[in-house]
Amino acid sequence: VDYQNDCFRKDGEKFRYISGSIHYSRIPRVYWKDRLLKMYMAGLNAIQTYIPWNYHEKVPGLYNFSGDRDFEYFLKLAHDIGLLVILRPGPYICGEWDMGGLPAWLLKKKDIVLRSADPDYVAAVDKWMGKLLPMIKPYLYQNGGPIITVQVENEYGSYFACDYSYMRHLSKLFRSYLGDEVVLFTTDGALLKTLKCGSIQDLYATVDFGPGSNVTAAFGAQRHVEPHGPLVNSEFYTGWLDHWGSHHSVVSSTRVARVLSEMLIMGANVNLYMFIGGTNFGYWNGANTPYAPQPTSYDYDAPLTEAGDLTEKYFAIRDVIKMYRKIPEGPIPPTTPKYAYGAVTMKKLQMVSDALDKLSFSGPVKSTYPQTFIDLNQAFGFMLYRTSLPVNCTKPTPLTSPLNGVHDRAYVSVDGVAAGILERDNVEPVNVTGKAGSQVDILVENLGRVNYGKYLKDFKGLVSNLTLGENPLTGWTMYSLSIDEAVSEGLLGEEEPTPTDAPQPAGLSPPAFYGGSFIIPDGIPDLPQDTYIKLTSWRKGQIWINGFNVGRYWPTRGPQVTLFVPANILSTAAPNNVTILELEGAPCSSGPCTVEFTTIPILNGTVQSDYKQHRRLFIKEDLL
Ligand SMILES: *[C@@H]1O[C@H](CO)[C@@H](O)[C@H](O)[C@H]1NC(C)=O
Ligand SMILES: *[C@@H]1O[C@H](CO)[C@@H](O)[C@H](O)[C@H]1NC(C)=O
Ligand SMILES: *[C@@H]1O[C@H](CO)[C@@H](O)[C@H](O)[C@H]1NC(C)=O
Ligand SMILES: *[C@@H]1O[C@H](CO)[C@@H](O)[C@H](O)[C@H]1NC(C)=O
Ligand SMILES: *[C@@H]1O[C@H](CO)[C@@H](O)[C@H](O)[C@H]1NC(C)=O
Ligand SMILES: *[C@@H]1O[C@H](CO)[C@@H](O)[C@H](O)[C@H]1NC(C)=O
Ligand SMILES: *[C@@H]1O[C@H](CO)[C@@H](O)[C@H](O)[C@H]1NC(C)=O
Repeated sequence: VDYQNDCFRKDGEKFRYISGSIHYSRIPRVYWKDRLLKMYMAGLNAIQTYIPWNYHEKVPGLYNFSGDRDFEYFLKLAHDIGLLVILRPGPYICGEWDMGGLPAWLLKKKDIVLRSADPDYVAAVDKWMGKLLPMIKPYLYQNGGPIITVQVENEYGSYFACDYSYMRHLSKLFRSYLGDEVVLFTTDGALLKTLKCGSIQDLYATVDFGPGSNVTAAFGAQRHVEPHGPLVNSEFYTGWLDHWGSHHSVVSSTRVARVLSEMLIMGANVNLYMFIGGTNFGYWNGANTPYAPQPTSYDYDAPLTEAGDLTEKYFAIRDVIKMYRKIPEGPIPPTTPKYAYGAVTMKKLQMVSDALDKLSFSGPVKSTYPQTFIDLNQAFGFMLYRTSLPVNCTKPTPLTSPLNGVHDRAYVSVDGVAAGILERDNVEPVNVTGKAGSQVDILVENLGRVNYGKYLKDFKGLVSNLTLGENPLTGWTMYSLSIDEAVSEGLLGEEEPTPTDAPQPAGLSPPAFYGGSFIIPDGIPDLPQDTYIKLTSWRKGQIWINGFNVGRYWPTRGPQVTLFVPANILSTAAPNNVTILELEGAPCSSGPCTVEFTTIPILNGTVQSDYKQHRRLFIKEDLL
């Protein structure tokens, strides 16, 4: 950092970066090179990426850095292409990622204060960083690698704790592993109040703001804490995130290009967040509060689409960059082709309730009152809570949970008949009828942990007692479910026709699996290609292709209607297996029981939300 000339210096020369965010955890490894090349060809000289702790340490002490998790390979690719790297290793990352990247197992200590000097939290961070930072060190610019700067924590000033001893500890920890030469920095919202708790001595303070902000005022806030040195916008928003039940976010290219140019004229360093958003495969999406989970697509209306396609915004940004630095010549890698594999017929496999022997590897746990996912050592997905009706409910009897008692959605059935759904931010009861002793099954879905703000500690499952009429339900048998393993091991069989199949209420049936397969046609060159799976007549659930968890679908809530299916999970050697866990009701009894593979993504479908109709777009300032 050159404080005299208000700039960075690299190899003694005045240096400025124009960077773009790309999260390797949201892009299949086979596509890393394609996306990085497109970023390079846009004229960027750097990329910025997060390292999500929970992606690499699913179980304490068991690390995974292979395949899609091989971030070293990602760094090498960036280096080979000629891109520098701005690394954001957390430990907290936000990023619309489950729990902001923190592992859910931290919640084993119920009263832990995350992102603070809480000794148990710090001990876990020290252990993780003791593993991670030595891996990063060889990739620092000083050591011949691409990493020019490393961020410590993320937007810490927006967090309630404001614990300077925690930030000082991290600063020392990073220094001790990475050495004295690398630039360590912080990023905060461009407001004095966030910079106050977010910035500390020895870490260069940068800001983040989007094209809706006043650039002069925003950099003025940075100048308040860094009177000299380079101007840095670490997150210039090219688009914005989505939430289920809210309209798809779109930000105009013209505006992004104009404000980018405004910052570049000032000599500022800019990172475009996101340059490519990618996909929240599996269960990796986070959520905001009041509880609003993000969908599977993290397209972000970024200059490269979720699938890495070139957009008008890409070229608008490239045209701006061209005015400030020489951009590489040569062809830009083209948009990858998509293929419409057509309709695939699905067949009902088993109901979740009937397949517990296959789904629950650890077997049931009994307890008087409900326990959470973490109590049963489960981080993601679904858990089944079973009890029985203690009394005759001859008349519809309300089964209720207090507000925020269900994290996050509970699918209730009685003796195999769907009764209704309890939701986290809603106190609408489910009416239950049945004889005393009837089996009550409640499948609880974790829809993604809160990733931002005060309420990061997001326990999943039944986090309160449920009340039937006046009395709390007790005597639970809980099944931790290993659905992903069961699906990829092909354990779910076809349903045996049972004459006793109970009639279901209109539009609702208990959670069940469906399976189908399709063959990739012969004689067409370059198949398999990427595709989108369209689930318009399905309601809500999770989908796997060849055992790979493609993500959540919820077209009835919107705005996302199709899911991105990358070619690398498809096979030409065997039929491709599609497995769906439909939670609310499949179209199969009333219409065609199919899913469709198409070439056109739909991320801006109609939004239908019973009780959140007018939820506004979140802006960070709202969430403080
Ligand atoms: C590690 O992650 C890779 C990439 O997601 C995955 O293929 C592999 O199965 C994981 N390894 C273990 C031991 O879980
Ligand atoms: C932007 O902020 C600067 C500094 O606070 C102020 O002088 C200027 O009037 C603002 N511009 C607009 C368009 O609000
Ligand atoms: C439920 O009703 C049945 C008769 O319909 C009766 O025999 C039984 O005792 C009742 N059970 C309870 C727990 O009230
Ligand atoms: C449950 O029953 C009550 C009383 O009969 C009724 O007012 C309410 O609409 C019912 N709720 C649902 C979700 O059916
Ligand atoms: C359920 O109720 C019991 C008895 O009042 C209480 O001890 C327990 O903490 C409650 N459980 C939850 C998860 O709220
Ligand atoms: C799909 O499942 C069938 C039957 O289990 C299996 O033979 C086939 O290899 C699977 N396809 C892929 C691509 O894994
Ligand atoms: C949805 O997005 C597509 C593609 O960008 C666009 O053509 C269409 O007009 C949009 N529809 C709505 C309702 O905004």
